[in-house]
Amino acid sequence: MQKLEQIYEGKAKKVFKTSDPELVIVDYKDDATAFNGEKKGTIHNKGIINNRVTNHLMKMLEKEGVPTHFVKEISDRETIVKKVSIIPLEVIVRNVAAGSLAKRLGLAEGTKLGRTVIEYCYKDDSLGDPMVNEYHILAMGWATEDELKLIAKYSLMVNNFLTRYLKDVNIELIDFKLEFGKTPDGKIVLADEISPDTCRFWDATTHEKLDKDRFRRDLGGEEDAYKEILKRLLGE
Ligand code: TMP
Repeated sequence: MQKLEQIYEGKAKKVFKTSDPELVIVDYKDDATAFNGEKKGTIHNKGIINNRVTNHLMKMLEKEGVPTHFVKEISDRETIVKKVSIIPLEVIVRNVAAGSLAKRLGLAEGTKLGRTVIEYCYKDDSLGDPMVNEYHILAMGWATEDELKLIAKYSLMVNNFLTRYLKDVNIELIDFKLEFGKTPDGKIVLADEISPDTCRFWDATTHEKLDKDRFRRDLGGEEDAYKEILKRLLGE
């Protein structure tokens, strides 16, 4: 299947048309941004690692009963996915306080939460992706009540599966961000990516950060951290 014209370029990926109107090709870049694009850089081979890791996890999640947009990996950086209309929400799932939650509630990073927390942000860069709740989502018509229930259910299924799976490779899943899309026949599917760009992965023993926080916070070693995730998850 061939790439036709580019239909979208985001901060970390490009999307291309294909000859099949129901399928698109995503192409992962090495570009890294943080703080709504204010900080810019490159993480060598990040695109390859995020493509591989995302596809590996999405294939397993499909088997666990979470429908995804994944169709077929066609190269190191490129994957065929179902064309969906993206629900304009970032769904954040948290097991341990870190990042913006730690800051907002004055918690030490690493504080275990009494139960899993789901947060929603409205995907709009010009507004800085503001946090919203179920009432806003329904009032604005970004999702229906049934769709939102399904989104929360799938998000918790992803959390349960990933937490267990990562524990086996000595990684603690602190938090992560998901995006969902709607297929032309109205089905909700997991879309976007699941990678060190969109998750907080800590080594379970040393608590070393193995994710994009190394870039966000100028900790250094981001290339090695991404490589380490690829190695632990895919054995490469
Ligand atoms: P936060 O603590 O900064 O709100 O981040 C929560 C999780 O969401 C963390 O795993 C990183 C991920 N994330 C994204 O994938 N994209 C974003 O733009 C932001 C701000 C966070």
